[in-house]
Order: sequence, then structure tokens, then C-alpha cells
Amino acid sequence: MLSRRGLLSGLATGLAAIGLSTLGASAAHAAKTYTVCKTTDIKIGSGKVFRPSGSSTYVLITQPRKGVWKAFNANCTHENVPVAGAVNNVVVCNQHGARFNAETGARTAGPARRALTAYKVAISGTSVKVTF
Ligand code: FES
Repeated sequence: MLSRRGLLSGLATGLAAIGLSTLGASAAHAAKTYTVCKTTDIKIGSGKVFRPSGSSTYVLITQPRKGVWKAFNANCTHENVPVAGAVNNVVVCNQHGARFNAETGARTAGPARRALTAYKVAISGTSVKVTF
């Protein structure tokens, strides 16, 4: 028969294990900030795809208007292939022809049904920093 002290001790051990596993899971998904490119890399109305150092995620940076920077997960929402970039504020996926708005990420044409996933972007000096 389990004593009251043994029961409480086992319960505490179990809770600690759950707490540690929860902490590990949240740490694995914690957002990080990456320096993706320089502001001069992106002309007004255009966008380019980068893979920041230390990340396996492709990031699309656009400058839809002068001094306005946007960042998205570059993977097309149709079949998860990186888009080609943006020209004249239109994001193009060359795989099957989907199009997205370079400022909002909204789908405008093609087989993709959902918008690109937006990321938080900040400018520090001439560096474009993205958090995801
Ligand atoms: S993967 Fe982009 S349109 Fe199909």
C-alpha cells in the first residue's frame, strides 16, 4: 500500500516531469530574430527570398512602398515551395503560377488558397530583422 508521503512524492515527481516536458516544447517553438538582409537589397515594389543564417526557413522580404518593409514565410501555401520573389508588388510562385499581394501576403491568383504567413519585421540601421 502506498503511503500518503509516497503518494505526494510521486505526484510531485510526475508534475515536475510534465512541467519540464512542457518547458522543452515551448522552448523548441520560441521565436528568434534573424538578420535577413540589408534594406538596400530590396528595391521599392520588389521582393526577394532569403534563408537567414542559422535557420532552415525561407523568408520573403518586400518593400511595397518607400520605407515600408514586409516579411513573410516564403513558402507558397499551395505546395510549400518557396516563391520566386516579387515584381511590381506581385509575389510570384513559379511552380504553378500563384500570385500574392506583396504588402499583405493575400493570395490574388493561382491554385494557392491561403495568404502567405506574415512575420514581424524591424529595421535596425540598414539591417532587416525578422522574428519567427
Ligand atoms: S507551389 Fe506555388 S502555385 Fe503551386
